[in-house]
Amino acid sequence: MARIIPIATDKDRAEAITAATEVLMRQRPVAIPTETVYGLAADATHPAAITSIYETKGRPRFNPLICHMADLAMAERNAVFDPLSRKLAEAFWPGPLTLVLPLQENSGIHPLATAGLDSVGIRVPVGFTAELIRNLGRPLAAPSANSSGRISPTTAQHVAADLGQKIDVIIDGGACPVGVESTIVKVKGGDVRLLRPGGIAVEAIEAVLGTVISRPKASGTAAIEAPGMLASHYAPDASVRLNATSVGQDEALIAFGSGDISGAAGAKALFNLSPAGDLAEAASNLFDYLKRADASGAKGIAVAPIPNEGLGEAINDRLMRAAAPRGTEE
Ligand code: TXA
Ligand code: MG
Repeated sequence: MARIIPIATDKDRAEAITAATEVLMRQRPVAIPTETVYGLAADATHPAAITSIYETKGRPRFNPLICHMADLAMAERNAVFDPLSRKLAEAFWPGPLTLVLPLQENSGIHPLATAGLDSVGIRVPVGFTAELIRNLGRPLAAPSANSSGRISPTTAQHVAADLGQKIDVIIDGGACPVGVESTIVKVKGGDVRLLRPGGIAVEAIEAVLGTVISRPKASGTAAIEAPGMLASHYAPDASVRLNATSVGQDEALIAFGSGDISGAAGAKALFNLSPAGDLAEAASNLFDYLKRADASGAKGIAVAPIPNEGLGEAINDRLMRAAAPRGTEE
């Protein structure tokens, strides 16, 4: 079973950096807390390290990994920035924004991390992970720390339950404050395109750019643009029913706000993403409540309507994937 190391005190933190660095130097993956979800991190410059991520997750190798940098300077050594991408990086880093940019010619990032593409997805995370990257002196490739196709983890306990037998160390930074993965945009020339809605609201990106950015027309389009965006992802065992206005006795209910859902009192389990109707709070609770609703033994999970604005766009994206029919997962 993986060793779980807390980072609550300075002493814990120093110990965690040392232990995680030691694992990374052995080309093994380590689970790390980021502001979005827990990541399964390994040295982005080393083929054996990257292979260990794909193997641990059971992830298909055509699906490239996000490479995490300590700061913008490190990012610029690995990717080619134009004025627009620099503007976005300065506005949102460190934070939950991933930029897909042309790979820098002499970047040390191994082709296994980018699945051989000539672009790279990069972001600068908040807090512990940035410290760890600085200490290692190399970028970290890190997908979410879950078995491929399953719900992303937002606590160290979620990681332990899924991958605890397969990895050596889990750094416990508590619950991830954002709770959904980073927003991914692709910047090419003067064009900025949304590949995945996430922890930064699209409206906030548009406000910085002063223009509207293009969005995928259907999930099929995104699947080609970001190879990881397959329809059935985030799969709980129970079936998921969206925009529910009523709930059955064999279902768990995931509610939002104060709206009435008929049958709620008789539901098998009851969760409310945000009784106050706050979308950021709802995002931070989403994956934990999906997992708990799934574990309740309910046959199905009924989810109340969520407004499709701000972080609601990322929440609805993940819910649609959770509700998609099986057989299309990666
Ligand atoms: O918040 C996050 O982004 C988390 C934390 C750990 O940083 N990471 C995460 O990674 O969500 P992952 O591997 O689950 O999702 C990465 C997504 C995939 O859909 C992948 O296809 C896309 O990013 N991606 C990565 N590099 C790309 C590239 N060069 N071009 C297009 N899509 C890319
Ligand atoms: Mg993932």
